[in-house]
Amino acid sequence: MPRPLSISTARLRLRAFRTADAEDVQRLAGQRSIADTTLNIPHPYEDGMAEKWISNHRDWFERRQQAVFAVTLPGPPEAFVGAIELRVDCEDQRGELGYWIGIPYQRQGYATEAARALLQFGFESWGLHRVTAQCFSRNLPSRRVLQKIGMAHEGHLRQHLIKWGVFEDVDLYGILAEQWRAADPLFSGN
Ligand SMILES: CC(C)(COP(=O)(O)OP(=O)(O)OC[C@H]1O[C@@H](n2cnc3c(N)ncnc32)[C@H](O)[C@@H]1OP(=O)(O)O)[C@@H](O)C(=O)NCCC(=O)NCCS
Repeated sequence: MPRPLSISTARLRLRAFRTADAEDVQRLAGQRSIADTTLNIPHPYEDGMAEKWISNHRDWFERRQQAVFAVTLPGPPEAFVGAIELRVDCEDQRGELGYWIGIPYQRQGYATEAARALLQFGFESWGLHRVTAQCFSRNLPSRRVLQKIGMAHEGHLRQHLIKWGVFEDVDLYGILAEQWRAADPLFSGN
């Protein structure tokens, strides 16, 4: 399937990353608090890391391993706000949602709006059966986002991961395609 150019929501445009976004990624994702509650974001975020990450996106998308979108405010001028992704386990038709929003743009509902759009993309465009998300139990904003998009709390995993030398409790959230379709029309676009 050709890579979609963009997904529009009420306030956001989710689009493919460009190499030119690397500077914004390094500046925003480079904040310690962004790395603190994520597993895959390095800290310090060094030169060249964002370019390397972005250079993999097309291949990941074409192999249906991962769909990564830049979260932007369309403008003009466009503002780069953060990133959202769906990592796919093709065999089990399952996706795992991940996201971050730059500090200046947090608490304005952008993660929730982008995550709703990614659920729709995962279920409608990639035909997934189930979407999950995991977050550190102390990450209350992320847990709230997952609740707001209709995901069910499926488990609390005690001291499941080590982050920066500390065991972390993790909460697991999930939603099935049939639940998503049956949910409020706001979620499914039905
Ligand atoms: C998690 C994150 C993406 C949320 O982004 P955001 O755009 O601010 O999220 P939203 O505005 O859509 O919603 C945030 C919700 O959390 C709530 N929230 C924010 N800070 C909170 C806190 N300290 N305690 C409890 N709830 C909090 C907000 O009030 C809001 O809920 P509400 O709409 O019911 O009021 C952002 O904080 C982030 O990037 N954090 C660092 C990276 C990260 O943790 N990514 C997720 C990994 S699982």
